[in-house]
Formats: sequence, C-alpha cells, structure tokens
Amino acid sequence: MFFASDNASAVPPQVIDALARANDGYEMPYGNDTVMTGVRARLREVFEAPEAAVYLVSTGTAANVLSLACLCPPWGAVLCHDTAHVQVDECNAPEAFMNGGKLLTVPGDGGRIDPEALKEALARLLPAAVHNAQPAALTLTNTTEMGTVYSPDQVAQLAGLAKGAGLSVHMDGARFANALVSSGATPAEMTWKAGVDVLSFGGTKNGLMGVEAVILFDPAKAQEFEFRRKRGAQLFSKHRYLSAQMQAYLADDLWLDLAKRANRAAARLADGIAALPGGRLMHPVEANMLFAEFPAEGHARATAAGATYYNLAELAGGSELGARLVTSWSTSDAEVDAFLSHLRG
Ligand SMILES: Cc1ncc(COP(=O)(O)O)c(C=O)c1O
Repeated sequence: MFFASDNASAVPPQVIDALARANDGYEMPYGNDTVMTGVRARLREVFEAPEAAVYLVSTGTAANVLSLACLCPPWGAVLCHDTAHVQVDECNAPEAFMNGGKLLTVPGDGGRIDPEALKEALARLLPAAVHNAQPAALTLTNTTEMGTVYSPDQVAQLAGLAKGAGLSVHMDGARFANALVSSGATPAEMTWKAGVDVLSFGGTKNGLMGVEAVILFDPAKAQEFEFRRKRGAQLFSKHRYLSAQMQAYLADDLWLDLAKRANRAAARLADGIAALPGGRLMHPVEANMLFAEFPAEGHARATAAGATYYNLAELAGGSELGARLVTSWSTSDAEVDAFLSHLRG
C-alpha cells in the first residue's frame, strides 16, 4: 500500500535486462554510444519530429532547468503555475541555471494555468520596459502537480497566448506518459503541434532507474543545450547505461503500457474513495496522482496497517484528512483494494 510517490517503484524487468545487455564490451562515451543513435531515431519517430535534438539527463530537475536556461536569458522571466515543480520543488535551481532569469507564477484551478490569468500576467509585463523582467517563456506541467491533464487544445490555447507575446514554450513532462495515455492524443499533438518548443520527457517516475530525455523540437538551440548540459555536470561518460534504459522504455511501447497501468490503479483508487462515506476527491483524477479527503478513522486504520502516502491535512489539523496518493506501474489491484478496505473499516 505504497502511494507516496511513483518514483518509489521498482524498475521493470525489461529495463534491468536492457542494462545487462548494455553491460558488455566497449561503447563510445559521452552520448556517442550506438544505443543512443537508436534512441534519438526512435524518439524522433515517436514525436514525428525528424529534426528534433534529443538528449538524456539523469533527473527531472536537470531536464527542466537546462531546458529553461536555453529559453530564458538572465534578464528574462518564465511564467509557470503557482504549484509548478520548478517553482515549488527545485530549490531555486531554475533561477541558478538561468543565471538571474526568474520564475513568475500564474494561478489556475486544478494545477492548470487559467488562460485569463495568463493574459493578465502577459499584459503586466508587456510592453517590456528596460526596468522589468523580459517575458521569455511559458512552462506547462503535464500531468499537472494536481494530477489533472492539459488536453492538446488547452496546451495550444496557452501556448498560442505565449507565442503571440513572443515567448517560447516548455513542457515539464515528468509524467508525460500518464498525461498522454489519459488524453488519447499522439505525442506530436500534445507537444509541438500544440506549440511546445522543448519537452522534458520523463522516464524515472514511470519506471526507469533515473533517465529523462530533453527534446528540442527546433534544433537551433542544440549546441547551446550541449554546452549547458556539460557545464551543468549532466554529460555522462558511461552514457550507454542511460541510453539502454531509454531504449527499453520505448521498445514495444513499454512506456505507454507502464503509464496505463499506473493510471488504471489511480482510477480504481479514486472510484473506491469517492464511494466511501465522507470520501471526496479534491481534483478530477485524470492520471496517476490523486488528492482526496476521507475520515480520520480511515486514515488511522490504513496507516496503522502500513499504508504510506502524504497526509496534507496534518498541516491544517482538521478531522477530514487530505491525502496525496500516487500510483505507479507496479501498483497492484490487491494493494488498492486492501487500502480501500482499511479506509472502509
Ligand atoms: C512535475 C515534476 N517535474 C519534475 C520533477 C523533478 O524530478 P527529479 O526529482 O528527478 O528532479 C518532479 C519530481 O517530483 C515532478 O513531479
């Protein structure tokens, strides 16, 4: 009954096997391995983006901050949601890597930026005077931090507003696969066709040991990204082990299967909680993360039985408990059902 995070899951056997296969003989270092050639080609194919530049890094934070640094100069600003991981959970790494560039937050329900609020934020910054931060980019998180999903149309609407004001668009896709399978869109529809310039393509939360890709749909910034990745200590000498993980992830659409499993488990959990007396979902459950309230006795029984998840309302001290529950590819129906039976009592 482990619902604290999706990156607490184990690594699927296909990925471990791929690592074992890669662990033979010699390969050129620093991203020049033959496996990476295949990974680049496959990601270009998956995203219908034959020109895209593709790189691997080891954390979602690295993917985000190296991407944003390419899109925002030291005098610039990146607009993000109030709850964005870059704003709340990256210890000012975006600002450090942007070398003075700053994040400006924009509100919106359920983790999604409200288009009207984005218009207002842009209007406050434009026309840009020498005194204010120069709006440089918009970053959207999909799956959002509240477990909701932007549809391609919603991405296109926000990206259109940003582009109309001369900004670039980044997507934090730490849970991109979960959003994609939830929406039914193609990878291209969810990204460059909707106006996304750079994608942090998550792998770790969806089963990899520690690999994320950065996809620059316009390769104009590719060389800059390479310099920034090296300078950011994210260019791996034994790169083949990163490539091997990503290769296994993409093979036979493993990445989509893993995300479907995680989303299915979240839906089962959500249905069960919604049916409880006193159970309430705080946001629509559209991917593999849910926020829910349920009575304190249920919480006490479940945690006493070993359930692990983040309890939001301990901060607020109410009797109804708000919980953040995250499922992963390895969450079983049995785990979900056991948890629900403890909540029911
Ligand atoms: C939406 C989002 N983006 C980025 C990250 C960063 O990932 P990492 O912890 O690998 O740096 C996370 C991790 O929690 C996340 O939830």
